Amino acid sequence: MIRRYLVPFKAHRLPHVLTDALIIGGGVAGLRAALAVAEHGDVLLVTKDHLRESNTFYAQGGIATVMKSEDSFDSHITDTMNAACGLGFLPAVQTVVREAPQRIQELIEWGANFDREINGGLSITREGGHSYARIVHALGDATGRELANCLARKVRENANIQILEHTFVLDLITVDGGCIGALAWHKDRGLFMVLTRQTLLASGGAGVLYRETTNPHVATADGHAMAYRAGATVRDMEMVQFHPTTIYIAGATRALVTEALRGEGAKLIDRNGVRFMPDYHPMAELAPRDVVARSILAQMAKTKYTHVFLDARHMSESAFRDRFPGIYQMCTSFGINPATQPIPVHPSAHYMVGGVVTDLFGHTTVRNLYAIGEASYTGLHGANRLGSNSLIEAMVFGKRAGDDAGQRIAQDSEDLIPPRLTAEIDKSTRTELDTGDVRSSLRSLMWRNVGIERNGVHLDEANEIIAFWSRYVLDKIFDAAAGWELQNMLEVASLVARAAALRTETRGVHFRTDFPAIDDAHWLKHIDWNASLPEPVLSPI
Ligand code: FUM
Repeated sequence: MIRRYLVPFKAHRLPHVLTDALIIGGGVAGLRAALAVAEHGDVLLVTKDHLRESNTFYAQGGIATVMKSEDSFDSHITDTMNAACGLGFLPAVQTVVREAPQRIQELIEWGANFDREINGGLSITREGGHSYARIVHALGDATGRELANCLARKVRENANIQILEHTFVLDLITVDGGCIGALAWHKDRGLFMVLTRQTLLASGGAGVLYRETTNPHVATADGHAMAYRAGATVRDMEMVQFHPTTIYIAGATRALVTEALRGEGAKLIDRNGVRFMPDYHPMAELAPRDVVARSILAQMAKTKYTHVFLDARHMSESAFRDRFPGIYQMCTSFGINPATQPIPVHPSAHYMVGGVVTDLFGHTTVRNLYAIGEASYTGLHGANRLGSNSLIEAMVFGKRAGDDAGQRIAQDSEDLIPPRLTAEIDKSTRTELDTGDVRSSLRSLMWRNVGIERNGVHLDEANEIIAFWSRYVLDKIFDAAAGWELQNMLEVASLVARAAALRTETRGVHFRTDFPAIDDAHWLKHIDWNASLPEPVLSPI
């Protein structure tokens, strides 16, 4: 069913843009990588919307790094490996934890305005699963925005980096198994080809696969889908993290209500005002995210209600407003004063833990193609992700991949020559299609059948329906982003749902009600997908 390219094209007939490096995506991973590559050559950074539309920009809680003298690298490594539930890759965890302080320091030198204590030291908070307070934050609850703005400023000042916004990358172009660039589309230019020496995929996540998500509308799994079509191996796609607390008010976006609030004492209560987390886990509100998300679902079922509440009434209004200004503003705009009223919350899809497999320098299994940030699978998160570990992963691997790509560029003196490549598509049905309808149906199906709690019957049903929709959507040739996004979403939803059906155990964020226990004897394995193979490969740890 998987077609190599979304649209037919003749490479030598397309307008070409030549650049030493192409970076797809403008979140923290892409921006950090751009700065590193630009030390060695020209960089073109493309984003499909405004630069600010990325998961980075909406990240609230913070960025994890060992700060306190009583904390240690070993403790952060142990917490991260524990959360990963047997699938973590220790060298990746060690790399991120040990390089984190340097990446934070450089952000400070570049002007990132992290929150500070009265004595001038960095203010740090604690999140679920972390043994110590080690989360650095900015603007109260807008850490991602501060990081994105800081890095974007630096990128814009760099004469070697060109940013192209509102540019949709349809596909990575490969010749003889190596990536030579990408096919892109801009409303004024139409289709064009970016020809490059090194391509870095930093295209972010997949939350929009789900009806309820903290992610912005751009997170449609494009990078996962195009890397898979290009022959890259993608891993453990069943591992989708759900955030326990997103605001639940009709008409509001499902914006995150940061875990830092629970870290700073807020309690979860049900519609009857009863605090319930101590009944579910000894760490109560600070239990791992998957446990909190499932406990909320259980309490919603028990109380027959659509949501629960986060009670932060232990804080004064001014303390709340100062520490969590974004959440305060969001709540008050809907007439809720979080210092006097509990905040209605509900879990939703938050982070794609699975992704494009890379090594410790961001190399994928396709030559000259890197993956970084949420699109990648470095092994840091394994089967579950600790809060605030992903911005630091993006910083660390953005730099590592950017340095590596830069060095390759510096050693590459070959001219960039457009290939004579023709991508043909045999047949395409012409049926009229309401792409918006399929998109929202897919998102509802994923939420109902491939969500926080899964079982074989619902997963099989989801797989049948996705296969049915795929038959008449994936053979079409679309001429606009809505169609390409839908094709990407269907391809990736299929990987998520098929992997979830295959993994007959519960591990990390993947919870099977019909297989509620971890099964190390059979499943201490990754599920790897490669478009060149008919079936996934199970790779032992
Ligand atoms: O709750 C939060 O602020 C989320 C942080 C994260 O997902 O890293």
